[in-house]
Amino acid sequence: TSSDLQSILQFTVDLAHSAGKIILDGSVAIQNAGSNVDEKKNSVDLVTEYDVKVEELVKKEIAAKYPAFKFIGEESYAAGSRSPLTDDPTFCVDPIDGTTNFVHGFPWVCISLGLIYKRRPVLGVIFNPFLNFLYTGIKNQGSYLSQNGGPPLKLPLAKSPKPLATLNHAQIAVEWGSDRSLSSLTKRSGSFHRLAGDPSSGVVKGRMVHSIRSLGSSALNFAMVAQGGLDIYWEIGCWAWDVCAGSLIAQEAGCTVSGSHAVFEATKSTPEFGQMTEEILTGRKYIVIRAIGDTELEK
Ligand code: IPD
Repeated sequence: TSSDLQSILQFTVDLAHSAGKIILDGSVAIQNAGSNVDEKKNSVDLVTEYDVKVEELVKKEIAAKYPAFKFIGEESYAAGSRSPLTDDPTFCVDPIDGTTNFVHGFPWVCISLGLIYKRRPVLGVIFNPFLNFLYTGIKNQGSYLSQNGGPPLKLPLAKSPKPLATLNHAQIAVEWGSDRSLSSLTKRSGSFHRLAGDPSSGVVKGRMVHSIRSLGSSALNFAMVAQGGLDIYWEIGCWAWDVCAGSLIAQEAGCTVSGSHAVFEATKSTPEFGQMTEEILTGRKYIVIRAIGDTELEK
């Protein structure tokens, strides 16, 4: 019920704050003394002792408070604990989203906590402890940003956001991701060219958008589209924990989350979240997020 979700939200926000302390302390320790940075599937897919520490804390607290809830987490999954998605309430957690930023001391890092019920995200919390930005959302109850402990502001921040007149006016986030295979990079850079290129130049015929950003955190890209600082976030290759909380927060802010787009050489279908989550958990999937009112992308 709605009051259940409100109390789960309070619990999740408290948990995000506890996790935030570990992330901040960990960052100081890493910058001062270095840390054991491990590589997962390749040399650009990083994990630190703090990713694991945060996930252990979160998993333990959730199990203590909500023993019936299932858990999907980035580091548990990497360690082989891969429970299939069911209709049960399931927390879907990225303990540190933006691990590469975290390792480099670039303060664009968050914890992302999503709750899935009946295979749909119903609650999301994204917390950047460096900036003290807290994004929250509950299904059908809107999403909010609280900055520096201030009052929650309804998202998007603009009262009546203007639809983009044209895609050329967009500020877009894309990510390079950790799959650096030729086929993945060719798709990605082809899309980047089509977005950035000058249509009047002979070399790359593109859309010449205002800007393309690669900030290194999927969840914060979702949050930033919800807030209004980005118009579009496009990426190939996200995992469920990268998108669960963010997709709820963005949708509650009026954004459209979709799994495909022709302009990006993606498939034409737009899978539902349950299907998308299953596909993301077992493989890789295109995630496209775009601003409300922007129809040019459909052409
Ligand atoms: C990654 C970041 C990155 C995105 C990857 C994610 P991690 O998460 O969100 O921006 O490009 O797809 O896996 O590894 O920092 O938790």
